[in-house]
Amino acid sequence: MKSISSKEFSERRQRLMSQLEENSIAIIPSAKMVIRNRDAEHQFRQDSDFYYLTGFNEPDACLVLIPGREQGEYLMFCRERDREREIWDGYRQGPEGVVKKLGADDAFPIDDIDEILPGLIEGRTRVYSRMGALPEFDRQLMDWVNQIKAKVRTGAVPPEDFSDISHLLHDLRLIKSKQEIAIMRDAAKISAKAHIRAMQYCKPGVGEYQVEAEIIHEFGTNGARFPAYSSIVGSGKNACILHYVENTKIIEDGDLVLIDAGCELSLYASDITRTFPANGRFTDEQKAIYQVVLDAQYAAIDATRPGNTFNHPHEAALNAIVSGLIELGLLQGSVDENLESESYKEFFMHRTGHWLGMDVHDVGDYKLGGEWRVLEPGMALTIEPGIYISPDNKDVEEKWRGIGVRIEDDVVVTKSGCDVLTEDVIKEISEIEALMNGGQGGLF
Ligand code: GLY
Ligand code: MN
Ligand code: MN
Repeated sequence: MKSISSKEFSERRQRLMSQLEENSIAIIPSAKMVIRNRDAEHQFRQDSDFYYLTGFNEPDACLVLIPGREQGEYLMFCRERDREREIWDGYRQGPEGVVKKLGADDAFPIDDIDEILPGLIEGRTRVYSRMGALPEFDRQLMDWVNQIKAKVRTGAVPPEDFSDISHLLHDLRLIKSKQEIAIMRDAAKISAKAHIRAMQYCKPGVGEYQVEAEIIHEFGTNGARFPAYSSIVGSGKNACILHYVENTKIIEDGDLVLIDAGCELSLYASDITRTFPANGRFTDEQKAIYQVVLDAQYAAIDATRPGNTFNHPHEAALNAIVSGLIELGLLQGSVDENLESESYKEFFMHRTGHWLGMDVHDVGDYKLGGEWRVLEPGMALTIEPGIYISPDNKDVEEKWRGIGVRIEDDVVVTKSGCDVLTEDVIKEISEIEALMNGGQGGLF
């Protein structure tokens, strides 16, 4: 399985430190174990910012960067080796391992952080942290600063400024490196296989949860043990619930099935949606709505290129959806009138995409100085227009009600356009019908 090289982790830290102000310190804690119920824990998932800078996958750790510090700039607090705990919970790197294997300049036991960290903060003018993200950590940081303030009469110098590091850090995360794109491509390929498997498996009479199980199985057997987010398998009118995750209904003949599922691989997300008929044949109405969404998606992908802004793909999709809905008689008036009145929000109420990376809704500003961000090579995003016609919408003919369609792919901006990482999974009506009626392949 591909992973990020130590060299790249080191370059990320250097790039971040080069942007920090002189005489500053940055403190970024790891994730903690989270209780699911009573003493059962959720599977550990490292904090994305912490992992991005360290590659360290243990809880109860804290990264400290002190640019320009002669005795070492890259410091870590972490759990100590502990034979007893390691027998129960697994191997730990310990401070020695963190220095040796992760290249930290120095590392200390996390239990000693209250004694050691105030001394490292003391004398630095500015403290960078992700302010407001973790209230418990913010309190801890103020405790450390207060320890310094309590000693001012002995000459201790507390920091003057506190800055949020998120903006700088997330701007780095927004542009994906070759190594990151290679992992995201692998994640996308696994998710594509899972969607094909779901289409081949699905038929009226199976449960949404059974389709979900097929997807999870495909992720796992390909080395991606976890989904990047809760999988959505919505059949019939459930396809109109944007975040439907119950997945409890038995799929019926005539239903469309909307699956929004993507695996996480080496801490990178993929995010795919496909919509298909449970019985392998679209009805005329399903086909009409599906084709409008597909045309909108192609238009949005076409608008995803350097120089265009993050909003261009959305505008392209919106135009195609509004024209399509007017043609079908679901909206009245001209395209401009509908764009102006936002009448389309009854059918298309979300944006066309979001940044994608270590987090499925990845970090990075969408606007700079009030203007939509200009797309640059290395930015990864989803393209996911949809049309959802509420089963309760009495303003449209009954034949349209309860149809929900979304088509979602993952793309990376290249020098001349964009690369569709998830193109392995079919989306043309004819291809879907052929696959579901015994056709071969599905993966191209
Ligand atoms: N799966 C979450 C999303 O599409 O944004
Ligand atoms: Mn999705
Ligand atoms: Mn998405």
